[in-house]
Amino acid sequence: MSDTDGAAENRGQWSSRWGFILAAAGGAVGLGNIWKFPYITGENGGGYFVLIYLLFILLIGLPIMVAEVLVGRSTQKSPVGAFKSLSSPGSLWAVPGWLGVLTGFIILSYYSVVAGWALHYTWFSMTQGFAGMNADEIGNAFSTLFADGDANIRWHLIFMVLTIGVILGGIQKGVERAARILMPILLVMLLVLLGLAITSDGFGQALEFVFKPDFSKVTAAGVLEALGHSFFTLSLGMGAMITYGSYLKKKEDLVAASGMITILDTVIALVACLVLFPITFTFGLEPQAGPGLVFINLPIAFSQLAGGVFWSTLFFALLVLAALTSAISLLEVVVSTFIDEFKMSRLKATLLCGGTITLFGLPSALSGSPESYFGSGFKEHSAFLFEGETGKNWFDTFDHLASNWFLPIGGLLIALFVAWRVGDKAREEAFTTGSRFARWYGLWLQLLRYVVPVGVIAVILYKIGLI
Ligand code: PFF
Repeated sequence: MSDTDGAAENRGQWSSRWGFILAAAGGAVGLGNIWKFPYITGENGGGYFVLIYLLFILLIGLPIMVAEVLVGRSTQKSPVGAFKSLSSPGSLWAVPGWLGVLTGFIILSYYSVVAGWALHYTWFSMTQGFAGMNADEIGNAFSTLFADGDANIRWHLIFMVLTIGVILGGIQKGVERAARILMPILLVMLLVLLGLAITSDGFGQALEFVFKPDFSKVTAAGVLEALGHSFFTLSLGMGAMITYGSYLKKKEDLVAASGMITILDTVIALVACLVLFPITFTFGLEPQAGPGLVFINLPIAFSQLAGGVFWSTLFFALLVLAALTSAISLLEVVVSTFIDEFKMSRLKATLLCGGTITLFGLPSALSGSPESYFGSGFKEHSAFLFEGETGKNWFDTFDHLASNWFLPIGGLLIALFVAWRVGDKAREEAFTTGSRFARWYGLWLQLLRYVVPVGVIAVILYKIGLI
Protein backbone atom coordinates (compact mmCIF):
# COMPACT_ATOMS: atom_id res chain seq x y z
CA MET A 1 0.00 0.00 0.00
CA SER A 2 1.41 3.40 -0.86
CA ASP A 3 1.41 6.44 1.31
CA THR A 4 -1.48 7.98 -0.49
CA ASP A 5 -4.14 5.31 -0.52
CA GLY A 6 -5.77 3.05 1.99
CA ALA A 7 -8.30 3.22 4.73
CA ALA A 8 -6.57 5.80 6.83
CA GLU A 9 -7.80 8.83 4.89
CA ASN A 10 -4.48 9.33 3.15
CA ARG A 11 -2.64 9.66 6.45
CA GLY A 12 -0.17 6.89 5.58
CA GLN A 13 0.32 3.47 7.18
CA TRP A 14 3.16 1.19 8.12
CA SER A 15 3.75 -1.50 5.51
CA SER A 16 3.70 -4.23 8.19
CA ARG A 17 3.80 -4.87 11.92
CA TRP A 18 7.60 -4.99 11.74
CA GLY A 19 7.66 -1.65 9.99
CA PHE A 20 5.83 -0.28 13.02
CA ILE A 21 7.98 -2.08 15.57
CA LEU A 22 11.21 -0.87 13.99
CA ALA A 23 10.01 2.70 13.64
CA ALA A 24 8.63 2.80 17.17
CA ALA A 25 11.70 1.12 18.63
CA GLY A 26 13.77 3.59 16.60
CA GLY A 27 11.81 6.38 18.26
CA ALA A 28 12.26 4.87 21.68
CA VAL A 29 15.94 3.98 21.39
CA GLY A 30 17.88 7.21 21.34
CA LEU A 31 20.10 9.55 23.28
CA GLY A 32 18.01 8.52 26.28
CA ASN A 33 19.40 5.00 26.09
CA ILE A 34 22.97 5.56 25.06
CA TRP A 35 23.83 8.97 26.48
CA LYS A 36 21.42 9.73 29.30
CA PHE A 37 20.68 6.37 30.94
CA PRO A 38 24.33 5.47 31.57
CA TYR A 39 25.15 8.89 33.00
CA ILE A 40 22.13 9.13 35.29
CA THR A 41 22.84 5.57 36.42
CA GLY A 42 26.38 6.70 37.19
CA GLU A 43 25.22 9.82 39.04
CA ASN A 44 22.72 7.85 41.11
CA GLY A 45 25.18 5.21 42.16
CA GLY A 46 24.23 2.30 39.87
CA GLY A 47 22.34 -0.84 40.95
CA TYR A 48 19.36 0.42 42.97
CA PHE A 49 18.60 3.06 40.36
CA VAL A 50 18.60 0.44 37.60
CA LEU A 51 16.31 -1.79 39.64
CA ILE A 52 13.78 0.98 40.31
CA TYR A 53 13.93 1.96 36.68
CA LEU A 54 13.22 -1.63 35.58
CA LEU A 55 10.24 -1.81 37.95
CA PHE A 56 8.87 1.44 36.54
CA ILE A 57 9.30 0.13 33.00
CA LEU A 58 7.39 -3.06 33.76
CA LEU A 59 4.62 -1.77 36.01
CA ILE A 60 4.10 1.72 34.63
CA GLY A 61 5.82 2.07 31.26
CA LEU A 62 4.59 -1.06 29.54
CA PRO A 63 0.90 -0.61 30.50
CA ILE A 64 1.01 3.00 29.26
CA MET A 65 2.76 1.94 26.07
CA VAL A 66 -0.11 -0.48 25.35
CA ALA A 67 -2.64 2.25 26.22
CA GLU A 68 -1.02 4.75 23.85
CA VAL A 69 -0.73 2.36 20.92
CA LEU A 70 -4.31 1.25 21.56
CA VAL A 71 -5.62 4.82 21.43
CA GLY A 72 -3.66 5.51 18.25
CA ARG A 73 -4.64 2.31 16.48
CA SER A 74 -8.32 2.58 17.33
CA THR A 75 -8.75 6.22 16.40
CA GLN A 76 -6.16 6.41 13.58
CA LYS A 77 -5.48 9.95 14.72
CA SER A 78 -2.67 12.00 16.22
CA PRO A 79 -2.95 12.72 19.99
CA VAL A 80 -5.25 15.76 20.00
CA GLY A 81 -7.73 14.21 17.55
CA ALA A 82 -7.48 10.83 19.25
CA PHE A 83 -8.43 12.23 22.66
CA LYS A 84 -11.22 14.25 21.08
CA SER A 85 -12.70 11.35 19.18
CA LEU A 86 -12.80 9.08 22.24
CA SER A 87 -14.41 11.71 24.47
CA SER A 88 -17.22 14.19 23.87
CA PRO A 89 -16.90 17.24 21.61
CA GLY A 90 -15.41 20.24 23.38
CA SER A 91 -14.20 18.04 26.22
CA LEU A 92 -11.14 19.03 28.21
CA TRP A 93 -9.53 15.74 27.21
CA ALA A 94 -8.01 17.53 24.22
CA VAL A 95 -5.68 19.24 26.73
CA PRO A 96 -3.37 16.23 27.34
CA GLY A 97 -3.10 15.92 23.56
CA TRP A 98 -1.88 19.51 23.30
CA LEU A 99 0.40 19.06 26.30
CA GLY A 100 1.98 16.18 24.37
CA VAL A 101 2.55 18.36 21.33
CA LEU A 102 4.14 21.03 23.51
CA THR A 103 6.36 18.44 25.19
CA GLY A 104 7.51 17.02 21.85
CA PHE A 105 8.28 20.53 20.70
CA ILE A 106 10.37 21.28 23.80
CA ILE A 107 12.23 17.96 23.87
CA LEU A 108 13.23 18.09 20.22
CA SER A 109 14.55 21.63 20.63
CA TYR A 110 17.29 20.58 23.05
CA TYR A 111 17.59 16.95 21.93
CA SER A 112 18.90 18.24 18.64
CA VAL A 113 21.69 20.13 20.43
CA VAL A 114 22.95 16.92 22.07
CA ALA A 115 22.62 15.11 18.76
CA GLY A 116 24.73 17.96 17.38
CA TRP A 117 27.50 17.11 19.86
CA ALA A 118 27.37 13.53 18.59
CA LEU A 119 27.66 14.82 15.02
CA HIS A 120 30.63 16.95 16.02
CA TYR A 121 32.29 13.98 17.74
CA THR A 122 31.69 11.71 14.75
CA TRP A 123 33.28 14.28 12.50
CA PHE A 124 36.16 14.90 14.89
CA SER A 125 36.77 11.16 15.35
CA MET A 126 36.96 10.66 11.60
CA THR A 127 39.09 13.65 10.72
CA GLN A 128 41.43 14.03 13.69
CA GLY A 129 40.73 11.40 16.26
CA PHE A 130 41.61 11.48 19.91
CA ALA A 131 44.95 9.72 19.58
CA GLY A 132 47.75 11.74 21.12
CA MET A 133 45.41 13.77 23.34
CA ASN A 134 45.65 13.31 27.10
CA ALA A 135 42.68 13.09 29.49
CA ASP A 136 42.78 16.79 30.36
CA GLU A 137 42.85 17.82 26.74
CA ILE A 138 39.89 15.58 25.98
CA GLY A 139 37.93 16.94 28.95
CA ASN A 140 38.76 20.47 27.79
CA ALA A 141 37.67 19.65 24.25
CA PHE A 142 34.19 18.87 25.55
CA SER A 143 34.02 22.01 27.68
CA THR A 144 35.20 24.02 24.71
CA LEU A 145 32.53 22.55 22.45
CA PHE A 146 29.89 23.08 25.14
CA ALA A 147 30.86 26.73 25.43
CA ASP A 148 31.14 27.34 21.69
CA GLY A 149 27.77 28.82 20.75
CA ASP A 150 28.54 29.03 17.03
CA ALA A 151 29.56 25.38 16.76
CA ASN A 152 26.50 24.28 18.73
CA ILE A 153 24.20 26.29 16.50
CA ARG A 154 25.85 24.94 13.37
CA TRP A 155 25.47 21.28 14.38
CA HIS A 156 21.96 21.86 15.72
CA LEU A 157 20.94 23.32 12.35
CA ILE A 158 22.48 20.40 10.44
CA PHE A 159 20.72 17.85 12.63
CA MET A 160 17.36 19.60 12.36
CA VAL A 161 17.68 19.73 8.56
CA LEU A 162 18.29 15.95 8.51
CA THR A 163 15.25 15.33 10.74
CA ILE A 164 13.01 17.63 8.72
CA GLY A 165 14.17 15.92 5.51
CA VAL A 166 13.00 12.50 6.72
CA ILE A 167 9.63 13.80 7.94
CA LEU A 168 9.02 15.44 4.58
CA GLY A 169 9.21 11.94 3.05
CA GLY A 170 6.08 10.81 4.93
CA ILE A 171 5.37 7.60 6.81
CA GLN A 172 6.46 4.72 4.60
CA LYS A 173 9.00 6.48 2.43
CA GLY A 174 10.45 8.63 5.20
CA VAL A 175 9.99 7.38 8.75
CA GLU A 176 9.69 3.64 8.10
CA ARG A 177 12.44 3.49 5.52
CA ALA A 178 14.85 5.38 7.78
CA ALA A 179 14.11 2.99 10.65
CA ARG A 180 14.45 -0.13 8.50
CA ILE A 181 17.90 0.94 7.38
CA LEU A 182 19.19 2.57 10.56
CA MET A 183 17.96 0.23 13.29
CA PRO A 184 19.77 -2.94 12.14
CA ILE A 185 22.98 -0.94 11.63
CA LEU A 186 22.61 0.43 15.14
CA LEU A 187 22.13 -3.01 16.65
CA VAL A 188 25.18 -4.43 14.91
CA MET A 189 27.32 -1.46 15.93
CA LEU A 190 26.25 -1.83 19.54
CA LEU A 191 27.03 -5.54 19.58
CA VAL A 192 30.49 -4.92 18.15
CA LEU A 193 31.16 -2.38 20.90
CA LEU A 194 29.80 -4.77 23.52
CA GLY A 195 32.33 -7.33 22.31
CA LEU A 196 35.08 -4.79 22.90
CA ALA A 197 33.76 -4.01 26.41
CA ILE A 198 33.35 -7.64 27.46
CA THR A 199 36.98 -8.32 26.78
CA SER A 200 38.14 -5.31 28.81
CA ASP A 201 39.37 -5.60 32.40
CA GLY A 202 36.66 -3.47 33.92
CA PHE A 203 33.77 -5.69 32.80
CA GLY A 204 33.28 -7.50 36.12
CA GLN A 205 33.32 -4.25 38.06
CA ALA A 206 30.82 -2.76 35.61
CA LEU A 207 28.45 -5.71 35.98
CA GLU A 208 28.49 -5.22 39.71
CA PHE A 209 27.98 -1.48 39.44
CA VAL A 210 24.97 -1.85 37.13
CA PHE A 211 23.25 -4.84 38.70
CA LYS A 212 24.10 -4.87 42.41
CA PRO A 213 21.64 -2.65 44.30
CA ASP A 214 22.93 -0.47 47.12
CA PHE A 215 19.83 0.92 48.82
CA SER A 216 21.77 3.34 50.96
CA LYS A 217 22.05 5.46 47.84
CA VAL A 218 18.29 5.91 47.25
CA THR A 219 17.20 9.57 47.06
CA ALA A 220 13.84 11.25 46.23
CA ALA A 221 15.45 12.99 43.31
CA GLY A 222 16.80 9.64 42.07
CA VAL A 223 13.38 8.00 42.22
CA LEU A 224 11.77 10.88 40.33
CA GLU A 225 14.58 10.72 37.81
CA ALA A 226 14.04 6.96 37.34
CA LEU A 227 10.33 7.56 36.76
CA GLY A 228 10.91 10.47 34.41
CA HIS A 229 13.48 8.49 32.54
CA SER A 230 11.25 5.45 32.12
CA PHE A 231 8.79 7.74 30.32
CA PHE A 232 11.50 9.50 28.35
CA THR A 233 13.24 6.36 27.16
CA LEU A 234 10.03 4.66 26.02
CA SER A 235 8.80 7.91 24.44
CA LEU A 236 5.70 7.84 26.62
CA GLY A 237 3.49 10.58 27.96
CA MET A 238 3.47 12.86 24.95
CA GLY A 239 1.51 10.90 22.39
CA ALA A 240 4.44 9.66 20.28
CA MET A 241 3.16 6.12 20.56
CA ILE A 242 -0.40 7.31 19.90
CA THR A 243 0.87 8.91 16.72
CA TYR A 244 2.87 5.87 15.60
CA GLY A 245 -0.01 3.56 16.64
CA SER A 246 -2.32 5.60 14.42
CA TYR A 247 -0.47 4.36 11.34
CA LEU A 248 -0.95 0.75 12.41
CA LYS A 249 -3.51 -1.42 10.67
CA LYS A 250 -6.37 -2.40 12.95
CA LYS A 251 -5.74 -6.11 12.69
CA GLU A 252 -2.18 -5.98 14.07
CA ASP A 253 -1.33 -7.40 17.52
CA LEU A 254 -0.69 -4.24 19.49
CA VAL A 255 0.13 -5.96 22.76
CA ALA A 256 2.87 -8.07 21.21
CA ALA A 257 4.24 -5.04 19.36
CA SER A 258 4.27 -2.88 22.52
CA GLY A 259 6.05 -5.64 24.45
CA MET A 260 8.65 -5.97 21.73
CA ILE A 261 9.36 -2.23 21.64
CA THR A 262 9.71 -2.13 25.43
CA ILE A 263 12.07 -5.09 25.48
CA LEU A 264 14.24 -3.71 22.69
CA ASP A 265 14.49 -0.33 24.38
CA THR A 266 15.34 -1.75 27.79
CA VAL A 267 17.91 -4.22 26.50
CA ILE A 268 19.63 -1.52 24.48
CA ALA A 269 19.83 0.80 27.51
CA LEU A 270 21.40 -1.96 29.61
CA VAL A 271 23.80 -2.88 26.83
CA ALA A 272 24.81 0.78 26.55
CA CYS A 273 25.75 0.69 30.25
CA LEU A 274 27.70 -2.50 29.65
CA VAL A 275 29.61 -0.76 26.89
CA LEU A 276 30.32 2.42 28.81
CA PHE A 277 31.06 1.33 32.36
CA PRO A 278 33.63 -1.41 31.58
CA ILE A 279 35.55 1.14 29.54
CA THR A 280 35.16 3.74 32.30
CA PHE A 281 36.47 1.36 34.97
CA THR A 282 39.20 -0.11 32.81
CA PHE A 283 40.72 3.32 32.39
CA GLY A 284 40.22 4.27 36.03
CA LEU A 285 37.63 6.96 35.27
CA GLU A 286 34.63 8.08 37.33
CA PRO A 287 31.15 6.64 36.61
CA GLN A 288 29.50 9.84 37.88
CA ALA A 289 30.95 12.02 35.15
CA GLY A 290 27.47 13.41 34.30
CA PRO A 291 26.48 14.44 30.77
CA GLY A 292 30.13 14.25 29.77
CA LEU A 293 30.30 10.49 30.43
CA VAL A 294 29.91 9.62 26.78
CA PHE A 295 31.75 12.65 25.48
CA ILE A 296 34.75 12.58 27.82
CA ASN A 297 35.25 9.11 29.28
CA LEU A 298 34.82 7.27 26.02
CA PRO A 299 37.18 9.43 23.98
CA ILE A 300 39.78 9.08 26.74
CA ALA A 301 39.47 5.33 26.40
CA PHE A 302 39.51 5.49 22.61
CA SER A 303 42.63 7.63 22.64
CA GLN A 304 44.49 4.76 24.30
CA LEU A 305 43.01 1.93 22.35
CA ALA A 306 44.41 0.22 19.28
CA GLY A 307 42.07 1.14 16.42
CA GLY A 308 40.72 4.05 18.46
CA VAL A 309 39.80 6.09 15.38
CA PHE A 310 37.61 3.27 14.17
CA TRP A 311 35.93 2.65 17.52
CA SER A 312 35.21 6.24 18.28
CA THR A 313 33.85 6.94 14.80
CA LEU A 314 31.66 3.85 15.15
CA PHE A 315 30.37 4.84 18.54
CA PHE A 316 29.51 8.43 17.76
CA ALA A 317 27.93 7.50 14.43
CA LEU A 318 25.77 5.09 16.39
CA LEU A 319 24.75 7.88 18.71
CA VAL A 320 23.80 10.07 15.73
CA LEU A 321 21.68 7.31 14.17
CA ALA A 322 19.90 6.57 17.44
CA ALA A 323 19.24 10.27 17.94
CA LEU A 324 17.96 10.69 14.40
CA THR A 325 15.29 7.98 14.57
CA SER A 326 14.10 9.47 17.89
CA ALA A 327 14.10 13.03 16.65
CA ILE A 328 12.01 11.85 13.73
CA SER A 329 9.38 10.53 16.13
CA LEU A 330 9.40 13.75 18.15
CA LEU A 331 8.86 15.88 15.07
CA GLU A 332 6.23 13.51 13.69
CA VAL A 333 4.00 14.05 16.75
CA VAL A 334 3.99 17.79 16.22
CA VAL A 335 3.69 17.64 12.43
CA SER A 336 0.93 15.03 12.34
CA THR A 337 -1.12 17.11 14.79
CA PHE A 338 -0.80 20.15 12.56
CA ILE A 339 -1.76 18.06 9.52
CA ASP A 340 -4.80 16.58 11.28
CA GLU A 341 -6.00 19.58 13.27
CA PHE A 342 -5.28 22.42 10.89
CA LYS A 343 -5.66 20.46 7.63
CA MET A 344 -2.19 21.52 6.51
CA SER A 345 -0.17 19.70 3.87
CA ARG A 346 2.73 17.62 5.19
CA LEU A 347 5.15 19.97 3.44
CA LYS A 348 3.77 23.09 5.06
CA ALA A 349 3.32 21.52 8.51
CA THR A 350 6.86 20.10 8.48
CA LEU A 351 8.51 23.34 7.45
CA LEU A 352 6.49 25.40 9.90
CA CYS A 353 6.90 23.11 12.91
CA GLY A 354 10.47 22.04 12.12
CA GLY A 355 11.47 25.67 11.57
CA THR A 356 9.91 26.89 14.82
CA ILE A 357 11.48 24.10 16.86
CA THR A 358 14.86 24.88 15.31
CA LEU A 359 14.51 28.49 16.48
CA PHE A 360 13.38 27.45 19.96
CA GLY A 361 16.48 25.24 20.16
CA LEU A 362 18.87 28.16 19.66
CA PRO A 363 18.87 29.18 23.37
CA SER A 364 19.71 25.56 24.22
CA ALA A 365 22.58 25.67 21.76
CA LEU A 366 23.81 28.80 23.58
CA SER A 367 23.29 27.47 27.11
CA GLY A 368 26.90 26.46 27.60
CA SER A 369 28.30 29.71 26.31
CA PRO A 370 29.66 31.95 29.09
CA GLU A 371 28.69 35.18 27.30
CA SER A 372 25.13 34.08 26.67
CA TYR A 373 22.19 35.03 28.87
CA PHE A 374 20.78 31.50 28.36
CA GLY A 375 23.66 29.99 30.28
CA SER A 376 24.32 31.34 33.74
CA GLY A 377 22.09 34.41 33.31
CA PHE A 378 19.03 32.23 33.01
CA LYS A 379 19.83 30.44 36.24
CA GLU A 380 18.41 33.24 38.35
CA HIS A 381 15.13 33.22 36.47
CA SER A 382 14.66 29.48 36.75
CA ALA A 383 15.60 29.15 40.42
CA PHE A 384 11.95 29.18 41.55
CA LEU A 385 11.44 25.88 39.69
CA PHE A 386 14.12 24.12 41.69
CA GLU A 387 13.26 24.65 45.30
CA GLY A 388 16.23 24.31 47.60
CA GLU A 389 18.59 24.28 44.65
CA THR A 390 20.07 26.91 42.42
CA GLY A 391 18.51 27.47 39.03
CA LYS A 392 19.61 25.80 35.85
CA ASN A 393 20.52 27.11 32.42
CA TRP A 394 17.89 27.18 29.66
CA PHE A 395 18.80 23.74 28.31
CA ASP A 396 18.72 21.96 31.69
CA THR A 397 15.57 23.79 32.78
CA PHE A 398 13.60 22.63 29.77
CA ASP A 399 15.01 19.12 29.93
CA HIS A 400 14.01 18.91 33.59
CA LEU A 401 10.53 20.32 32.98
CA ALA A 402 9.76 18.16 29.97
CA SER A 403 11.21 14.84 31.04
CA ASN A 404 10.63 14.85 34.79
CA TRP A 405 7.27 16.64 34.89
CA PHE A 406 5.42 16.90 31.56
CA LEU A 407 6.02 13.29 30.48
CA PRO A 408 4.90 11.67 33.77
CA ILE A 409 1.89 13.99 33.99
CA GLY A 410 1.01 13.32 30.34
CA GLY A 411 1.42 9.57 30.91
CA LEU A 412 -0.78 9.74 33.99
CA LEU A 413 -3.51 11.53 32.05
CA ILE A 414 -3.32 9.02 29.20
CA ALA A 415 -3.60 6.14 31.69
CA LEU A 416 -6.57 7.74 33.47
CA PHE A 417 -8.23 8.45 30.16
CA VAL A 418 -7.93 4.91 28.82
CA ALA A 419 -8.65 3.22 32.14
CA TRP A 420 -11.61 5.31 33.27
CA ARG A 421 -12.99 7.35 30.36
CA VAL A 422 -12.91 5.03 27.32
CA GLY A 423 -15.92 2.68 27.28
CA ASP A 424 -15.37 -0.85 28.64
CA LYS A 425 -16.50 -2.59 25.52
CA ALA A 426 -14.45 -0.49 23.10
CA ARG A 427 -11.36 -0.81 25.29
CA GLU A 428 -11.57 -4.56 25.66
CA GLU A 429 -12.24 -5.05 21.98
CA ALA A 430 -9.31 -2.84 21.02
CA PHE A 431 -6.95 -4.71 23.36
CA THR A 432 -7.97 -8.20 22.32
CA THR A 433 -8.44 -7.76 18.55
CA GLY A 434 -5.75 -9.73 16.76
CA SER A 435 -3.83 -10.30 20.01
CA ARG A 436 -2.18 -13.45 21.25
CA PHE A 437 -2.15 -11.83 24.68
CA ALA A 438 -5.90 -11.26 25.05
CA ARG A 439 -5.91 -13.03 28.41
CA TRP A 440 -3.71 -10.30 29.90
CA TYR A 441 -6.49 -7.77 29.49
CA GLY A 442 -7.66 -7.90 33.12
CA LEU A 443 -4.16 -7.52 34.56
CA TRP A 444 -3.33 -4.66 32.21
CA LEU A 445 -6.50 -2.81 33.15
CA GLN A 446 -5.79 -3.15 36.87
CA LEU A 447 -2.27 -1.84 36.38
CA LEU A 448 -3.56 1.09 34.37
CA ARG A 449 -6.40 1.84 36.79
CA TYR A 450 -4.55 1.65 40.09
CA VAL A 451 -0.82 0.96 39.90
CA VAL A 452 0.05 3.62 37.31
CA PRO A 453 -1.88 6.51 38.93
CA VAL A 454 -0.85 5.62 42.46
CA GLY A 455 2.78 5.12 41.41
CA VAL A 456 3.08 8.34 39.42
CA ILE A 457 1.23 10.47 41.97
CA ALA A 458 3.24 8.99 44.84
CA VAL A 459 6.53 9.78 43.14
CA ILE A 460 5.39 13.35 42.45
CA LEU A 461 4.24 13.87 46.06
CA TYR A 462 7.49 12.34 47.31
CA LYS A 463 9.49 14.69 45.13
CA ILE A 464 7.63 17.81 46.24
CA GLY A 465 8.04 16.73 49.82
CA LEU A 466 4.40 15.96 50.68
CA ILE A 467 4.99 12.33 51.63
N1 PFF B 1 12.90 7.90 23.67
C1 PFF B 1 13.88 8.85 23.18
C2 PFF B 1 15.21 8.52 23.81
O1 PFF B 1 15.28 7.67 24.71
O2 PFF B 1 16.20 9.14 23.42
C3 PFF B 1 13.48 10.27 23.43
C4 PFF B 1 12.09 10.57 23.04
C5 PFF B 1 11.69 10.36 21.72
C6 PFF B 1 11.18 10.98 23.98
C7 PFF B 1 10.39 10.57 21.37
C8 PFF B 1 9.87 11.19 23.64
C9 PFF B 1 9.50 10.97 22.33
F1 PFF B 1 8.27 11.18 21.98
